[in-house]
Amino acid sequence: MAQSNTSQPSGGGRLLNTFLNRPVKDHGSGWSSLWDLGESDLWDRGKASPALVDIVEQQTELLNPFTADGKRKKALVPGCGRGYDVVMLALHGFEAYGLEISDTAVKEAEKYASTELAKPSAYHFGTEQRPSSTPGSVTFFQGDFFTSQWDFKGGIDETTKFDVVYDYTFLCALHPEQRKKWVASMARVTKSGGLLICLEFPLYKDPKLPGPPWGLKGVHWNLLAEGGDGVITGEVGEDGKEKKPATAEIGDFRRSLYVKPARSYEVAKGTDMVSVYARK
Ligand SMILES: C[S@@+](CC[C@H](N)C(=O)[O-])C[C@H]1O[C@@H](n2cnc3c(N)ncnc32)[C@H](O)[C@@H]1O
Repeated sequence: MAQSNTSQPSGGGRLLNTFLNRPVKDHGSGWSSLWDLGESDLWDRGKASPALVDIVEQQTELLNPFTADGKRKKALVPGCGRGYDVVMLALHGFEAYGLEISDTAVKEAEKYASTELAKPSAYHFGTEQRPSSTPGSVTFFQGDFFTSQWDFKGGIDETTKFDVVYDYTFLCALHPEQRKKWVASMARVTKSGGLLICLEFPLYKDPKLPGPPWGLKGVHWNLLAEGGDGVITGEVGEDGKEKKPATAEIGDFRRSLYVKPARSYEVAKGTDMVSVYARK
């Protein structure tokens, strides 16, 4: 999402104004209307995430695109926008899927994918050496992440569990009241032992300020590991956990990696963190 040098979004509050007086149940249609009005410049970074590229290329064991019996792993990006990360995952060997609530976004993503799969941009790769695996596939669905009514195709249905799920600027796009639904939906779509990779953003923004984007410092740990409601009231440490007496980790996920990426989007002001959570 576009940011100024303060902690508030730039763009004349166009994002904020879309959601300010809109009931939370209608936020999905708010996103669709932004796509229809051609306002995706408010959040669109124009390329795949450098932090995700690096983690996929460096964590080769954790993120091997093939299962032990040689099948391609399925990766899902909910709220995928124009699909940059979906295409990047396919170029690294995954059977990659993107979900969008907006029909317009799905059409744009399909157009983008057909161009990029034919002639990939350099930003999909972190090194000169291209991945040894042949590219996987790209499929986009229109649907609401919080329901199972997506326009399923290609052998995927509401019972499919994904090996890898990626979130970037999807959680922060949602009203805090929707965080419990986000985590329940993440648990629903991720295979037991599967990985949820989060590029945590924005971590510099005061969580008391209105969004989107909503400040997320401490939110991922609380939702995913502690099974909380994602509302942080206290100070958060460098480890991404709220400073308070330790609580039981009764959430559906266990954190297996928490690192500051060497590369990320400039808009993060050097604060982005990558967390990888394994589904219990
Ligand atoms: C801030 S944008 C981020 C898009 C993309 N991840 C990116 O990095 O460009 C959030 C996206 O989530 C989509 N979205 C919002 N609510 C959704 C929902 N309930 N289900 C699926 N997609 C949703 C919006 O249409 C929008 O494209």
